[in-house]
Amino acid sequence: GAPVEVDISTLQPGEMRTVEWRGKPVWILKRTPEMLASLPKLDNQVADPKSERNPDEFTPEYCVNEHRSRKPEILVAVGICTHLGCSPSTKFVPGPQPSLPDDWAGGFLCPCHGSTFDIAGRVFKNKPAPDNLVVPRHMYLSDTKILIG
Ligand code: FES
Repeated sequence: GAPVEVDISTLQPGEMRTVEWRGKPVWILKRTPEMLASLPKLDNQVADPKSERNPDEFTPEYCVNEHRSRKPEILVAVGICTHLGCSPSTKFVPGPQPSLPDDWAGGFLCPCHGSTFDIAGRVFKNKPAPDNLVVPRHMYLSDTKILIG
């Protein structure tokens, strides 16, 4: 499939956009400082905190970092659960929710079998999904233009 160019100049903090690439939904989320600050606190609750598993498949080397991204605030991830391929929904709002960590700052919840992911797409421990959400290969053509693929 052809690479997809995305203009993120109007993307607001906390806003997420979905584009299609190779028939898959790709999420582009502009994270707030609060969202980014929540990530290190979740390291002991997620299964692969440093995204070390199969980097070829799940996390390109330039995104093997705390925020799983090239620019800290911009998450680019394939919106397909690594369990059986459902599309997780977004749950950005903090607060108590059944079967979620108390200090969950929001993230993604797969409706099929309850896997949860943080706002870097890192899967929480003891969930059916074995791996973090895929970060597709991508690059910045300019400060506000991303090329996915
Ligand atoms: Fe997402 Fe099973 S497909 S938890």
